[in-house]
Amino acid sequence: MSKPSLLVCRAIAPEVIARLEQHFEVRANQADVPWSQAQLIEALQGRQALFATGSERIDAELLQACPDLRICANMSVGFNNFDVEAMTAHGVVGTNAPGVLTETTADFGFALLLATARRVTEGERYLRAGQWTRWQYNTLVGSDVHGSTLGILGMGRIGQALARRGHFGFGMKVIYHNRSRLEESVELETGARYVSKDELLCRADHLVLVLPYSKTSHHAIGAAELALMKPTATLVNIARGGIVDDAALVQALRDRHIAAAGLDVYEGEPMLHPGLLEVPNVVLTPHIGSATGPTRLAMANLAADNLIDFFCGDGPTNSVNPEVLNELAA
Ligand code: DGY
Repeated sequence: MSKPSLLVCRAIAPEVIARLEQHFEVRANQADVPWSQAQLIEALQGRQALFATGSERIDAELLQACPDLRICANMSVGFNNFDVEAMTAHGVVGTNAPGVLTETTADFGFALLLATARRVTEGERYLRAGQWTRWQYNTLVGSDVHGSTLGILGMGRIGQALARRGHFGFGMKVIYHNRSRLEESVELETGARYVSKDELLCRADHLVLVLPYSKTSHHAIGAAELALMKPTATLVNIARGGIVDDAALVQALRDRHIAAAGLDVYEGEPMLHPGLLEVPNVVLTPHIGSATGPTRLAMANLAADNLIDFFCGDGPTNSVNPEVLNELAA
C-alpha cells in the first residue's frame, strides 16, 4: 500500500523527518524557505497531511484549494493559525502539541518576569553604552519579585506551572483569573486564589498572560485594562500577540501608567509595533518561550505522533476538533 503524502512546511529536527519518512512520502522544507500562502497551497496539492509550526494559516480558502488534505498537525500548543470551524466543515483534523512545553515555557515566563522587574536588559544596554561610571543607590532600581503579588491571566497548564514557581519558589501571593475557576484541589496545590479580572488587574504587582488567543481574547489587555494596573506593575506576555493591544501598551509604557513590560509575542510578529523599540522599559524576546533543545524536539515528536496515529494507529491524542474523528469512526 502506498504511503500517505506529507508536507513538512518548515525546517524541523532531522531525526523527526527520518521518523516521519518511515510512514509517509515526505516533502520537507528543510531549507526553511518562507512560503507565501499561494506557495503553501501549491505545495499541498495532492497531499493528505501537513506538519505545521503554528504560523501557517489553515483557513477556508486553503481547505477549498486542497481537497486531499485530511490532517494538519501543529508542533505548538497554540492553534490560532487554524480556522477550526472551517477545518471541521471540510472534515480535516487539526492537532496541537500540549503538555511537552509546559515547564520550559513557565521557566521562560519567569525569566521574562525577573528580567522585566529587575531591569536586566536595560542594565546591560547601560553598561555596554559605557554609561556605568560609579555605583549609585538609585541606579536602575526595579521592583521585588519575592513576596509580591503574581497575577496570572489564563490558568491552564502553563499558568499553573507559573503559579507553583511563584508560590513555592518566590513566596509570592498568587491570584488568577480564568474562564472557569479551577477545582479547589488545584488551587491548593498551586497556591493560587481565583479573583475577577478587574481585581487581578488592580492587585497584581506582576501580571503574566498565558491565555489562548481567540476572537474573545483579542485585545484582552488594552488601554482600559492597563489603566487599572498599578503604576509600579509589570506586564509579561508569553501567550500570543493580539491578546495585548500593542499600541495601547506603548502608550502606557511611555506615560508610565505601568512600570515595565516583558514581551515574547507581538501583534503581527515578526513585525513589531515601532514604538516598542523606542521605549526603554520593555524587555523584548523573539517568541522563544518553548525554545530549548529537548522541548522543541518533544514538540516535533508529538506532532509526528499525532500524524502517525491518525494514519496508522488509534487516532491522534491531541485533536482540537474531535468531532471530525468521531465522524470518521462512525
Ligand atoms: C506554542 O506552542 O504555542 C508556542 O508559542 C510555540 O509556538
